[in-house]
Amino acid sequence: LRHLTTLENLPRETIERLLDRAGTMRDGCAHGTRKLDLLAGRTVLNLFFEPSTRTRTSFELAARRLGADVINFDIGFSSTAKGEELFDTLHTLEAMHMDAIIVRHKESGTPESLVRHAMSGVAVINAGDGNRAHPTQGLLDALTIRQHHPDFSDLIVTICGDVKHSRVARSDVHAFSALGAKEIRLCGPASLMPDPAEVPGCKIYDNFDRAIEGAHAVIMLRLQKERMAATDLPDEQAYFTRYGLDGARLKRAAPGCLVMHPGPINRGIEIATDVADGAQSRILEQVANGVFVRMAVLAEVMGR
Ligand code: CP
Repeated sequence: LRHLTTLENLPRETIERLLDRAGTMRDGCAHGTRKLDLLAGRTVLNLFFEPSTRTRTSFELAARRLGADVINFDIGFSSTAKGEELFDTLHTLEAMHMDAIIVRHKESGTPESLVRHAMSGVAVINAGDGNRAHPTQGLLDALTIRQHHPDFSDLIVTICGDVKHSRVARSDVHAFSALGAKEIRLCGPASLMPDPAEVPGCKIYDNFDRAIEGAHAVIMLRLQKERMAATDLPDEQAYFTRYGLDGARLKRAAPGCLVMHPGPINRGIEIATDVADGAQSRILEQVANGVFVRMAVLAEVMGR
């Protein structure tokens, strides 16, 4: 794997290899603190045009734990603010000999554009583009589920919320489908659901009580207000009543159902605080797994 821009059409063996490697990194890292030197002498650039807490920090940690040097590009203080075009920025940074560029951008397709325009053969990893893909989130969600529910062939997973604007949902669907999940249910108001052709094989629901019935994992999504017109925003109280995850709804799922959320959480809008912080919550486990998945991806794209 030379770049990771999407999980769409990635073979199951590749996804399993990355998850296996992330698991090995997790087991071998003694709680994630031991450093390896697989990427010593390599330079990794975090190029984030949209805000991030989890993805950016975990890519930085992952790269450092593999021994790489890390540059965190500060868009606000960069020449982007003076009007420099994306590909001029790319070529400028390539001239400084970057080995990998991790990019987040509001425009879908930006990572592929960087791959096409790169002149140095730098590896490009997508950290989220528009509503299209967030491949390392898809991998870390799969790793978290696999840890508790290794056999995907009987897995029922429900993804609820603003699916239409969610790159996480799309990458989750690609990962879980490739791994042979039995049933992937997507739930939300019709105005926040994608065209069914975009999510082949998924079951679409607008009733969360039905969508969560018997699920082994439920992934809650926040309303992506930054991608919506103000007039499209639902009333938050009414939204929580229909699509929020509370303790009563969780009881409809399979016993021990994994409660997941890619973050950031909007408590009381898509998930109740006692559920987000409850015994079934795997949200912080997802965050921890993010570091190991990103270590595995960085090592893979840099041929180590
Ligand atoms: N899950 C996720 O992408 O979170 P951040 O926006 O904080 O990186």
